[in-house]
Amino acid sequence: MSRILTLLNTTGGVGRTTSALSMAVAFSEYGKKVLLIDCDPQGALTFTLGKENSRRTAYDIFSGRERALGMIHQTAERVDLIPASPKLSGDLKIKDDRMLFDALAKFEYDIIIIDTASGLSRLNQLVLATADEFIIPTRLDLLSVRGALQIAKESARYRGKIRAILPTMVEARSKHGIEMVELLREKFGALVIEPGIPKSPLFADAALAGASLLSHKKASDIAGMYREITYDFL
Ligand SMILES: Nc1ncnc2c1ncn2[C@@H]1O[C@H](COP(=O)(O)OP(=O)(O)OP(=O)(O)O)[C@@H](O)[C@H]1O
Ligand SMILES: [Mg+2]
Repeated sequence: MSRILTLLNTTGGVGRTTSALSMAVAFSEYGKKVLLIDCDPQGALTFTLGKENSRRTAYDIFSGRERALGMIHQTAERVDLIPASPKLSGDLKIKDDRMLFDALAKFEYDIIIIDTASGLSRLNQLVLATADEFIIPTRLDLLSVRGALQIAKESARYRGKIRAILPTMVEARSKHGIEMVELLREKFGALVIEPGIPKSPLFADAALAGASLLSHKKASDIAGMYREITYDFL
């Protein structure tokens, strides 16, 4: 059975997809066999990895057809991917809360990382029921932190554990940002990764190049930060 991590926040644009890809590549650099699953119907991760319009996608898990193997695509980042489909936002044939977990049980990976959409959809609840460990990325603004608190509260109903709160797009010396970190620390203590990932234009460059930051700007400080954060998960 693989170890299953997921990145969640009910608020959008907080760095879930960026962190999912960066950590997946870092795990792979550390010699782990990694599978990424894109459970966001918008498919940003799938797009970045050049697998848009794949015929076999994560939707197959919820379509009532049992054809698991063809869903897995190899990528240029040396991690495998189950791509998203826009159909993931439609009606899914969900038998029960264990459905995704059972579908993943037959895969042999060291780590499976699930990227999610914002909100508290039925699909996200299924992901919550499936993962062993939750990572909550958040920008340091009130709405993103509110989203982090919402998902933390929701996650308490499930078996998995919150493993880290990851501040993203951190602007050094922002008074508001410092207050938000204090608030997070009050609530989550040592789970808050400090100082988090700084805001950097390198992410936009990497996205344009259709690559992860870790392969696009291998030697950058920020790539190193994602490696360090991931190291603590080994
Ligand atoms: N540390 C960072 N510095 C600057 N830009 C960043 C950083 N991390 C992510 N970004 C950019 O911010 C945007 C949102 O990040 P990302 O897509 O990872 O968030 P998300 O939570 O997955 O968003 P969505 O709600 O769209 O799924 C992207 O354009 C991404 O390239
Ligand atoms: Mg995303």
